[in-house]
Amino acid sequence: MAGIDWRPTLVTRLRDRFLEQRAAEAHRHLEDDLRMLWREACTGVGLCHYVHVAAGTTIRTPRFGGLRHGDGLVFSTELLPGQEPDDLRAQATRLAHTLGAHGLRVEPLAGRWVRIVLLQSDPLTARVPLPELPLAHGAGRMVLGRGEDGTAITHRLTGPAHLAVQGQNGSGKSVFTYGLLAQLCAAPDVLITGSDITGLVLGRAFDGTAHRDLQATGTRDLLEHAAMLDRLVAEMDHRLDAMPARQDAVTASEWTPLVLVVLEEFPGLLRAAQARDKKLAERITSAVLRLVSEGRKAAFRVLMLAQRFEANAVGGGYARDQFALRLSFRVPADSLAMLHGDDARPLGPAHANAAPGIAYLSGPGHDCTRLRAPYLGGYGEYCDRLARHARRASGETWADWIEVA
Ligand SMILES: Nc1ncnc2c1ncn2[C@@H]1O[C@H](COP(=O)(O)OP(=O)(O)O)[C@@H](O)[C@H]1O
Ligand SMILES: [Mg+2]
Repeated sequence: MAGIDWRPTLVTRLRDRFLEQRAAEAHRHLEDDLRMLWREACTGVGLCHYVHVAAGTTIRTPRFGGLRHGDGLVFSTELLPGQEPDDLRAQATRLAHTLGAHGLRVEPLAGRWVRIVLLQSDPLTARVPLPELPLAHGAGRMVLGRGEDGTAITHRLTGPAHLAVQGQNGSGKSVFTYGLLAQLCAAPDVLITGSDITGLVLGRAFDGTAHRDLQATGTRDLLEHAAMLDRLVAEMDHRLDAMPARQDAVTASEWTPLVLVVLEEFPGLLRAAQARDKKLAERITSAVLRLVSEGRKAAFRVLMLAQRFEANAVGGGYARDQFALRLSFRVPADSLAMLHGDDARPLGPAHANAAPGIAYLSGPGHDCTRLRAPYLGGYGEYCDRLARHARRASGETWADWIEVA
């Protein structure tokens, strides 16, 4: 009788069982090791309770739950009474190093249970890619970069904050801006305007798009920059005058877009204007001052870039105070403290040598953190993305409607 050849099936089954058992055993060993290390790490950094009993002192540490199956090292732990996830976060680096990891992330689960995700490498050393698809509207979450715990740090342009970005030459300010503009260029309710004496961030790259009209570039015609800023101020005034009753802020729409005013190397523009005509510099300064102080309600957002955010280089201390969201790429230690306050001082010496693309961020909703900005992959890719996604210019442009003051 020609029966089925059952031997290969049996051998496969036995081998699978064996491999399964081996994997389960390895998982158990790893879990045991981690449980012990976790206890030692928590004790070492003082995240423990000392309980005095008749037989002596015992040490209680956050209970190790279980190691999760799958990729990466992820386990749960139960905080001790009185502990908060932030207590673990405050010691994250020390705990992680004891566990042989680079860093760790603490994610609340339920009750006192939290999940610990061990990070095997520094999230700030790896390049951060940018999602191919741009934002569908201005209220979308724009990626600012990847944080030290490996998560994305985002910001909504509709949030009431102007952005200040400082950093030495070659520290990554422009690349950061390419990333932001590539994300915003397709949104029907966002208009990208501004001044760029380098002509790389704005200008030619935007030719043929709906954004191009209110962009001034180069240093040959500085009057163009002043005139463009004046037109923006006129539109802002118009919006503020036309504000409907019982409203104190303009809601951005396709018809009244959120106007992003990019001021690339702004101190350079002011210097160039000053060298030519003091009056011109004053005109530019006062337009920018009005945009930063009154623009938020009129759906205007300013993104100012400078090598150093010194008060007199950016239109005065009052102008500087209007920027709620602040980013510093590589800067000398005193510049870091100047823009972010004393909290940032301890980081100063290390940040003075930060690699291009690594920035220190502070602002509402963002604790002072470090991040790595997205990298598009070169200037050509920025131009390609704008060509692919940016809103095209239609016959009648929005700028035509703006009455010139
Ligand atoms: N986020 C980043 N990731 C990787 N490399 C970066 C990043 N940002 C900048 N760089 C590198 O640094 C160089 C200078 O950046 P750039 O933005 O032109 O500096 P800045 O405008 O501050 O003078 C870029 O050409 C690029 O090679
Ligand atoms: Mg630059």
